[in-house]
Amino acid sequence: MNRNLEGQRVVIVGGNSGMGLALCAQLLTMRCEVSIVGRSREKLEAARKRLREFGEPRLHQADVTREEEVRRLFDEAGTVDHLVCTAADIRGSYELLPRLELDALDRAIRSKVVAPILLAKHGAPRMPAHGSITLTSGIAAYRPRPKGVAVAAINAALEGAVRAMAVELAPLRINAVSPGWVRTPIWDDVAGADSERLLASMAERLPVGRVGTADDIADAIVFLLGNGYITGTVLHVEGGHRLV
Ligand SMILES: NC(=O)c1ccc[n+]([C@@H]2O[C@H](COP(=O)([O-])OP(=O)(O)OC[C@H]3O[C@@H](n4cnc5c(N)ncnc54)[C@H](OP(=O)(O)O)[C@@H]3O)[C@@H](O)[C@H]2O)c1
Repeated sequence: MNRNLEGQRVVIVGGNSGMGLALCAQLLTMRCEVSIVGRSREKLEAARKRLREFGEPRLHQADVTREEEVRRLFDEAGTVDHLVCTAADIRGSYELLPRLELDALDRAIRSKVVAPILLAKHGAPRMPAHGSITLTSGIAAYRPRPKGVAVAAINAALEGAVRAMAVELAPLRINAVSPGWVRTPIWDDVAGADSERLLASMAERLPVGRVGTADDIADAIVFLLGNGYITGTVLHVEGGHRLV
């Protein structure tokens, strides 16, 4: 049976948008104490407004690719039962290799691989034995497309780190969700004006006949937070994308 999460303190890095925002709404409804983290004060305040009907999260402005800001985040947050990171800055990283700029590659690696390692480094010592860390990889590592080299490599690297951290940081549990295509603001950076066309054609291809919602992924993360017997695992939430 999944553990009751009521009263648990959860930090969601990336909680001002997309999957992290949906997760925050679900956890507030379950009466968790939730902190959301992002770089943009504006997006944090907008998230607070959207979450009003569910409860009141704490807001932390931090760039988690910077170690001093990660340290400050945990000083401010105090004890944390569960840490979730859905942060990603993949602007310019979905490109064919001749157009892939080192800056964009570097930014994406820092946001999805370096940041989770920094968060684990500074967060884990403050977490109780029943705590967990849940990170976000993605389908690009399993069903790569042209322009997907950087993101495929990044997601695979993150999953390697998840397995290693599950061993090193035990009894804390460390897991990842691997989303398929999910309609969130990240698509503005992935495909811009072409997003809706791509999402619609993927919906036709998938066994479930639709693309994902942020709530589909939030549900899976809630499950990972509550199940005390899962660690070092990648939970695929992708509508059957790996099969087609
Ligand atoms: N949506 C999909 O189809 C899809 C598919 C596969 C995998 N994924 C993965 O799922 C995860 C969540 O994606 P999403 O669609 O929910 O993305 P999203 O809506 O773009 O939200 C990600 C949030 O992360 C925050 N962030 C980025 N860099 C940060 C940093 N350095 N420090 C602190 N916060 C930072 C951003 O807030 P600020 O700008 O305020 O910092 C942003 O709002 C990502 O890892 C993504 O790669 C998504």
